Amino acid sequence: MSVLAEEQTLQITKIKEHIGAEATGVDLTQPIDETTRQQLYDALVDNVALVIRDQHFTAQQYADAASLFGELMEDQNRMYLADGVPMVSVLSNRHKDTSGKQAKVANNATWHTDHTNQEFPPKFTCLYPVALPDSGGGTAVVNMRAAYEALPQDVKDRITDMKTENTLISSARMATANPDIVKVQKESKTPPMIQPLVRTHPERGSKAIWFHKSKTEKVIGMEPQETQDFLEELLETAIKPEFAYVHEYRLGDMLMVDNRSAMHKAGFDFDHSQHRMVYRALVRGERPA
Ligand SMILES: [Fe+2]
Repeated sequence: MSVLAEEQTLQITKIKEHIGAEATGVDLTQPIDETTRQQLYDALVDNVALVIRDQHFTAQQYADAASLFGELMEDQNRMYLADGVPMVSVLSNRHKDTSGKQAKVANNATWHTDHTNQEFPPKFTCLYPVALPDSGGGTAVVNMRAAYEALPQDVKDRITDMKTENTLISSARMATANPDIVKVQKESKTPPMIQPLVRTHPERGSKAIWFHKSKTEKVIGMEPQETQDFLEELLETAIKPEFAYVHEYRLGDMLMVDNRSAMHKAGFDFDHSQHRMVYRALVRGERPA
């Protein structure tokens, strides 16, 4: 008996008006044509977050799928990597730190964008769950270009040319950070990376508020604690519920975020005795401007 391969048809559906799209009918372990690849790419960039459903990846297949969207870059935390696949890092609530204790994982439970202390931060962060708790543990994503656009004009004028100084971990966050990261930071001779607080999307021309509070030592012209307070207030002013989407994972979801237009945070609303493990791949981005 011959079995015909099931015909796949890509379908892309918006999730919310301001953020999110869902793609079905595509299997990224198989070759895809350029039209399909470009449709997925545009759905991601236009909608800030894209969920590609029903994927079944090994770590290597996942790296290959993410690389359809650009050149992969190493996660700067080299402690937790997928076996044999150094471009895939592993986020898990069961990691141990170098002292053998449960590693602190709460760092990213606040709005942020990845690797702002690097000259070329990832343009896309790609997440793929391997183990999920019964409920919760989603990833929230917010459209920061919509958030910027909705700001009062005087706030826009005030922040548009601000610059941030970025380090692996800011002095304001050291007391609560993973000790391994604090140790690296304290031994670091790397000068802070200066980044724009409001960046312009290199492909769309839109502006977005863009920072990682835990990595921001200061907004240039402000003191460190003043900076933390200012950034917190800016988030409260800018982020409206309609700009945000909480992705509650199903196994098989590949969630992609366009970091040039977004901030994201991990959900901690789950039973931490259960395992949550997510593969992460990063696609290299441009110098923010
Ligand atoms: Fe992140």
